Amino acid sequence: MVSFKINGVRRSFDGDPNMPILWYVRDELGLAGTKFGCGRALCGACTVHLNGSAVRACVTPIAAANEGEITTIEGLDPAGEHPVQRAWRQHNVPQCGYCQSGQIMQAAALLATTPKPSDTQISNAMQGNICRCGTYQRILAAVKTAASEV
Ligand code: FES
Ligand code: FES
Repeated sequence: MVSFKINGVRRSFDGDPNMPILWYVRDELGLAGTKFGCGRALCGACTVHLNGSAVRACVTPIAAANEGEITTIEGLDPAGEHPVQRAWRQHNVPQCGYCQSGQIMQAAALLATTPKPSDTQISNAMQGNICRCGTYQRILAAVKTAASEV
């Protein structure tokens, strides 16, 4: 039995503890904001927070969340008003949108530990999040805008 909080709600799971968190949030809870991209920790589309850090949910077993706390894009801010989300709207960052919840979760984790990141720190933190639409310039601008608000 694995016990944890997800988006502020305490839950337990008595299935396979090796099941990736991504499967749990999408298939067990129906939270579809976290996306499946590569399934191999190579694209960042599945990024969620585990105990405040950005992790790839496609390769992180649910057992890793035992007695911990998971946050998905749905729980980042119930009203969608996290500074990163506001900045994303201001800069019209998404194109197709598929990678964007992962991008936002990665950026939010960065700003939680590094509120005023340099361009290099932003690039280093975001480099594992792939955007096939090439929205990287708007992502950089939005992270800088969000950093000015946190
Ligand atoms: S789906 Fe998890 S990193 Fe690509
Ligand atoms: S907005 Fe389309 S993959 Fe990033």
